[in-house]
Amino acid sequence: MKVIIASDHAGYELKERLKIMFSGKLEFEDLGTFSEESVDYPDFAHPLSEKVAGGEFPYGILICGTGNGMAMCANKHEHIRAGLCWNTDIARLVRQHNNANILVMPARFIDEKTASDIMENFFSTDFEGGRHQRRVDKINL
Ligand code: RB5
Repeated sequence: MKVIIASDHAGYELKERLKIMFSGKLEFEDLGTFSEESVDYPDFAHPLSEKVAGGEFPYGILICGTGNGMAMCANKHEHIRAGLCWNTDIARLVRQHNNANILVMPARFIDEKTASDIMENFFSTDFEGGRHQRRVDKINL
């Protein structure tokens, strides 16, 4: 599966590590950033969200310091359900219950192993549908 990934400077190092760790399992389109030089997270969250919302990629991954800035930007987009995940249970539940199509991670608050486990759980879990579909249908204003 090909997924799209982006980070700001705070998430850059983790983004690079995750691309290497998952190189045999996922194909990545990387929208940047490409260094630790300070950048603005909306400049990465919005273009990535447009590509996921438009159907170019089934899933996206966004990483910043807390994850909150990326999630706030992504969730402005129709058809985007971005979930901030800091452990494996939340990563599984955000797929099962919320049908998240963007995984957001807080690079300054999780270690590399946790991030990798979060990715494993997110990408191996299906949406449960049923009562959760009804709730997801009520998200959009
Ligand atoms: C960058 O310093 C930091 O504000 C950003 O990575 C993120 O945490 C914003 O939500």
